[in-house]
Amino acid sequence: MESIEKTIDESKQGEVLVLESNPNKNSKKLYLESYGCAMNFSDSEVVASILEKNGYSTTRNIDESDLILLNTCSIRDKAEQTVRKRLTTFKKMKKAKPGLMVGVLGCMAERLKNALLEEEKLVDLVVGPDAYRDLPNLLHKTEGGQKSVNVLLSREETYADISPVRLDQTGVTAFISITRGCDNMCSFCVVPFTRGRERSRNPLTIVAEARDLFDRGYREVTLLGQNVDSYRWNMSSKGEVKDPNIPTTNFAQLMEMVGQVNPKLRVRFSTSHPKDMGDDVLEVIAKYENICDYIHLPVQSGNSEVLKKMNRGYTREWYLNRIEAIKRILPEATISTDIITGFCGETEEQHQDTLSLMEEVKFSAAYMYKYSERPKTLAERKYEDNVPEEVKQRRLTEVIEVQHKHQLEYFKGEIGKTYEVLVERVSKKSEDEFMGRNSQSSSCIFPKGNYKIGDYVNVKIIDCTKATLIAEIVEEVRS
Ligand code: SAH
Ligand code: SF4
Ligand code: F3S
Repeated sequence: MESIEKTIDESKQGEVLVLESNPNKNSKKLYLESYGCAMNFSDSEVVASILEKNGYSTTRNIDESDLILLNTCSIRDKAEQTVRKRLTTFKKMKKAKPGLMVGVLGCMAERLKNALLEEEKLVDLVVGPDAYRDLPNLLHKTEGGQKSVNVLLSREETYADISPVRLDQTGVTAFISITRGCDNMCSFCVVPFTRGRERSRNPLTIVAEARDLFDRGYREVTLLGQNVDSYRWNMSSKGEVKDPNIPTTNFAQLMEMVGQVNPKLRVRFSTSHPKDMGDDVLEVIAKYENICDYIHLPVQSGNSEVLKKMNRGYTREWYLNRIEAIKRILPEATISTDIITGFCGETEEQHQDTLSLMEEVKFSAAYMYKYSERPKTLAERKYEDNVPEEVKQRRLTEVIEVQHKHQLEYFKGEIGKTYEVLVERVSKKSEDEFMGRNSQSSSCIFPKGNYKIGDYVNVKIIDCTKATLIAEIVEEVRS
């Protein structure tokens, strides 16, 4: 795990990560690309761990690889198209290099196994998100010339006992999966179909992983789940205790357990769901300095009727009530969101409601998308995708413009404030500067001084660009 590289250091949807660890001349070489969300990135670390025990080390040099694996995303049509293009390139490489194996992992595996394996003959191997333990066995078959596939979804698999190979370069921040799958069935979303039923991971294994990361020098963990607030251990979804001999754990309690690992280990979490995020979680964040004051709370739309059609389980008023709770309990916190424009039947007025909600909340960041119809989802079966492409695009542009305005206002308001930041990496623009984030998750760029990656530094914000805060080192923290 000494030499670890990653080309892009923030795992946002749509970005691609090329991963490398443990170069070892004697082993077979795996080239692993990860698309989609942080959950996929985290899964790639589990895959690297499973395959490392079976003679594979990861490489960033595709030309020396014996096996290419793509961990894929189905969330929007565009994500799938990107992967398909990539697979066509690999098909050509396979012709030039007999014996090279290509496999598809992740969310597209589930959806497109037949098309990928049979119709288009693009890949040798298709493995769904719950079947990674079967990879060595499947690879064995593939080496023997057979196509192999396992896309079975599980109600139990959490990979709790697998210690992921950390594929990020800096050794400061890491993801820890706490739940897998999703039971929410938002009508636009493919995730419940690609990743199956929601299940929570044993809290003791989560705490042990956090402790191990801290001991190895990591200073920040992000707890991952499609809906972290519905984390529950030893409880049914109705709240009944399963085994009276084991304590039950909900998300607030889990965060407290991870928060107590070490005051110098920052804790982040994603994604919070407005319908389930209770005050108890906010109170735990308030109680622990090292649990970060940043909440990603996707709203999707500012109109209650649209939210109902989306099957999100809350109204505009409920969402605003949760925002009010955050501002009351965590006055320093920043809030970011996800927004979809042009969902089935969305009227101009309903779109205006999204803009007005943005004005009310003033998000510090947002991920904004045009609605993309996904096969099998409730929306595909029940509603017509009837907002014309140019209208979806125009609404998206309007949403983006409002967001940029708010972001800049927020950044300008930060000038003059002092924060403790955790140094994550050298700045992309200058070798002489570091990038560190504050508790609120804003990126700050500042001169290196005598600090190193992994240090906590007090900085004062002196300026901003559209995307980052510019800072200088100070000796004191804000009182
Ligand atoms: N579990 C998270 C979201 C996971 S998907 C949650 O519930 O918030 C990440 C984001 O992708 C979603 O929040 C949504 O904004 C967007 N998204 C999901 N399906 C989409 C679709 N069919 N078209 C456009 N955007 C979509
Ligand atoms: Fe998809 Fe909704 Fe589950 Fe998020 S909560 S993953 S949007 S079904
Ligand atoms: Fe994509 Fe699957 Fe994540 S569809 S966003 S990789 S859960």
